[in-house]
Amino acid sequence: MATLELVDLAKRFSKKVWGVKKMDLEVNEKEFIVLLGPSGCGKTTTMRMIAGLEEVTRGTILLDGNDITDIPSRNRGISMVFQNYAIWPHMSVYENIAFSLKLKKMPAAEIKQRVQETADMVKIGELLKRLPGQLSGGQQQRVALARALAVRPRLFLMDEPLSNLDAKLRVIMRTELKAIHQKTEATSIFVTHDQSEAMSMADRIVIMKDGVIVQIGTPDDVYFRSANMFVAGFIGTPPSNFFTVKCIYNNDKIALEHSQFTLDLDPKGFEELKEYNGKEIVIGARPEDLLVVPDSEAVFTEEILVVEPQGSHQVVALNLSETIVKMIVSAEAKVKPGDNIGLNFNRKRLHFFNKETEDRIHLKNEVE
Ligand SMILES: Nc1ncnc2c1ncn2[C@@H]1O[C@H](COP(=O)(O)OP(=O)(O)O)[C@@H](O)[C@H]1O
Ligand SMILES: [Mg+2]
Repeated sequence: MATLELVDLAKRFSKKVWGVKKMDLEVNEKEFIVLLGPSGCGKTTTMRMIAGLEEVTRGTILLDGNDITDIPSRNRGISMVFQNYAIWPHMSVYENIAFSLKLKKMPAAEIKQRVQETADMVKIGELLKRLPGQLSGGQQQRVALARALAVRPRLFLMDEPLSNLDAKLRVIMRTELKAIHQKTEATSIFVTHDQSEAMSMADRIVIMKDGVIVQIGTPDDVYFRSANMFVAGFIGTPPSNFFTVKCIYNNDKIALEHSQFTLDLDPKGFEELKEYNGKEIVIGARPEDLLVVPDSEAVFTEEILVVEPQGSHQVVALNLSETIVKMIVSAEAKVKPGDNIGLNFNRKRLHFFNKETEDRIHLKNEVE
């Protein structure tokens, strides 16, 4: 168990190409951190620098307060699992897991016990004699996990370890990995580009874009208090809907004027919008925060374009002045394409963004 600190970390591959422009991050002991971001944002580069597989261009990496920036990879006490599991095909499962322990010159009896214990934990305890070629993809990934965990790393790094598994197995493995983490309590960093995987596994999520961090927070933080429009649009399925509106602020009423509707707010709790009086801002509304209401209570009415049944709920899509708006309604709701429905907003849950910077306009009384 360890703490990790990245200070002003950067990696430049060539004059024009930055893998990571700047990373500042403190990972607490036993924490499960998820690095989340679109392809090419610098997740793998960050992990490779932490593991010592990539030289840093600038900055410092501290493990338990000690500078390890220039320490060789093998001496860092860090284990890493990759997307392509890279287990040795000619070695049995047992030998694969035991390999690093033998390198460490651990006594044979102890190795045997450690291998069995770790294999049991990832549920391949019965497969120790098999060769990797005799295992399914999911089982091979478990071997890779066991091999990395057997050495009891101070820090456990996983770079998209579930990407090669089918959708159903991924969801199962999420839960198992979380359970393994609760058992081992190894400080962990997990990389994914899948926001739902990140939400379901992380203590804290680090959202990256173009080589920098755009938000660090708990799953609730990034969902309910998204730092900017990129995060609000990246987290959640379907993602947030955005509406550009003109803010007319009076002390007794705020009117947010969209080309198709006007949303009125009681200024209480929205005082921070005063400085945007007369200016355009962006409303972010999550699909569950658009509510179907009787026409008399509606902020606008619109025709349903498409209904997407999801079993537990339905996603209803509308076309509002050339923009697709998606909302979540209950499985029981009687909705079909062509129906006109009235909509209102769950005002307490709205996000507001500065239209120029796309950053969140923070309100004093944000949803906890
Ligand atoms: N070895 C390399 N040489 C040159 N550019 C690289 C190298 N590795 C990664 N990059 C570039 O660095 C950026 C970040 O890549 P990467 O860390 O792999 O992103 P991610 O893992 O988030 O998809 C990308 O623009 C990528 O093309
Ligand atoms: Mg990557």
